Amino acid sequence: MAKTISAPRGTRDLLPEETAAWSHVEAVARDLSRRYALERIEIPLFERVELFARGLGESSDAVEKEMFRVAGAKGSEEEAAPWALRPEPTAGIARAFIEHGMHVRPGPLRLTMIGPMFRYDRPQAGRYRQFVQWDVEVIGDAGPAVDAELIELGHRFYAEAGLRDVVARINSIGDSTCRPAYRDALIAYFSEHAGRLGPDSARRLHVNPLRVLDDKTLPDDLAAGAPRGIDHLCDACREHFDGLRGLLDALGVRYEVDHRLVRGLDYYTRTAFEYYVAGREGQQQALGGGGRYDGLIELLGGRPTPGIGFGLGLDRTILALEEAGWTPPAGQALVAVLGAGDDHGRRLAIAAELRATGIAVRPDGSTRKLGKQIESAAKAGAAWALIVGEDGALALRDLERGEQRDSVTLGEVRAAISG
Ligand code: HAM
Repeated sequence: MAKTISAPRGTRDLLPEETAAWSHVEAVARDLSRRYALERIEIPLFERVELFARGLGESSDAVEKEMFRVAGAKGSEEEAAPWALRPEPTAGIARAFIEHGMHVRPGPLRLTMIGPMFRYDRPQAGRYRQFVQWDVEVIGDAGPAVDAELIELGHRFYAEAGLRDVVARINSIGDSTCRPAYRDALIAYFSEHAGRLGPDSARRLHVNPLRVLDDKTLPDDLAAGAPRGIDHLCDACREHFDGLRGLLDALGVRYEVDHRLVRGLDYYTRTAFEYYVAGREGQQQALGGGGRYDGLIELLGGRPTPGIGFGLGLDRTILALEEAGWTPPAGQALVAVLGAGDDHGRRLAIAAELRATGIAVRPDGSTRKLGKQIESAAKAGAAWALIVGEDGALALRDLERGEQRDSVTLGEVRAAISG
C-alpha cells in the first residue's frame, strides 16, 4: 500500500460530526451581522509581508515569530516569498479601505467577515496554525459609543452561541500623546527588576515595554506593582475610557478592567478588550479580542481615520461550547427512499419531488435486501423510510416507532413528515 499523507501540523479536518457546531456559531455571527448593520467584506488570504510588518509591528509575535511566508513559483520574481498568509484581517481591511478610496463613502463603515487566519505558532489545544475568526471593523468613528457597541456585540455573540458565562476584560493603553510617558514609566520600573524578567521580556523591554505586562512568565508581585496604563492617560484618553465604562454599565455588559491587558499587535490605541470564560481568567486563552486602532490607516499611507474592531476565535468558541456540554439542536427530519425492486429511476424521481418541496432526502442506490436498506437508513439518522414497492406503490415507515402505512400518496408523505 502507498504511504499515507497527514494534514499539516496545526491544521484540522472538520469531520461531519464536528461541523454542526461550526454551522451554528457561523449562523449566530451572520445573524448578528445583519442585526448590527454590518456589511460583508472579503480580502485575500495572503498579502505583502510589508503590510503586516508595518501594520502589526515588527516586534509583534505574529510578525516576528509566526509569519507563514508564501513564495512564488521557482524562478519567478516572487521566489523570495514577498507575501505571507494573513495572520489576522485588520491590516488587510485597512489596506483595502485605502486602496479603494473608501473614505469617500458615507461613514462610519461597518464591515465584517468570517475566515481562516494563519500563524506559524507551536500548536496546542486551542492554538492552531490555521484557525477561523469572526472579524468586525468599524472605520471612521472615534467613539466611545461605538467601542461600547462592539464590546456589547461580542458579549451578545457568546451568549447567543450558548456561552452564558463570558466576561469582557477592558483596558486603555493611551495614544501617541500619553503612551510615551507610560512606556518610559514601564521601562524604568522593569529595568529595576531586569533580573526577574523572562528572556522574551528582557529582549523586548526597550522595544515594546507594554508587552512585558502580558508575558505569562512575569511574577505576579512584579506585575501587581507595575505602573498602570489608566494612571498615565492624557485627558482625552481618560475621558474616552470613562465614557466607555459609563456606556458599558448602562448597557449591562459584564466587564472587568484588566491593567495587564495590552494586546499583542502594535496598532492598538486607547481601548483594548478581550473575552474570557468567567472564573478561569489567567489559566486560559482569550476567546476573542479587539481594540481601537486610530493610527493604523495613516500608518499605512491613508488619511488619518479612526477605527475599532474585534476578532473572535471560532475554534476556541467551539471548544468552550463543547466543554460546556453543548449539543446541536435536532436537525430537519431526514427521509430515506428505499426500494424492493431495482427501479432506481423511480426512487430518484420521488426523491427529487420531495426535495423540491424542501424535504431532506437520502435515496438508497443499492439493490440490497429491503431489511438491509432499512437498517442502514436508520443508522444514517433517517426518521422515515419511504419504500417503493415492486408494484410501484409507496409505503411510509416511521423508523423510530417501527410503524408502517401502506399505499400512501406523496401528499400524505409530506403531511406526515411535516406534521
Ligand atoms: P488577536 O487577539 O490576535 O486579534 O486574535 C483574535 C482571536 O483569534 C483570539 O482571541 C483567539 O480567539 C483567536 N486566535 C488567535 N490566534 C489563534 C490560534 N493560533 N489558534 C486559534 N485561535 C487563535 C486579532 O487578530 C485582531 N485582528 C483583532 C482585531 C480586529 N482588532 C481590531 N480589529
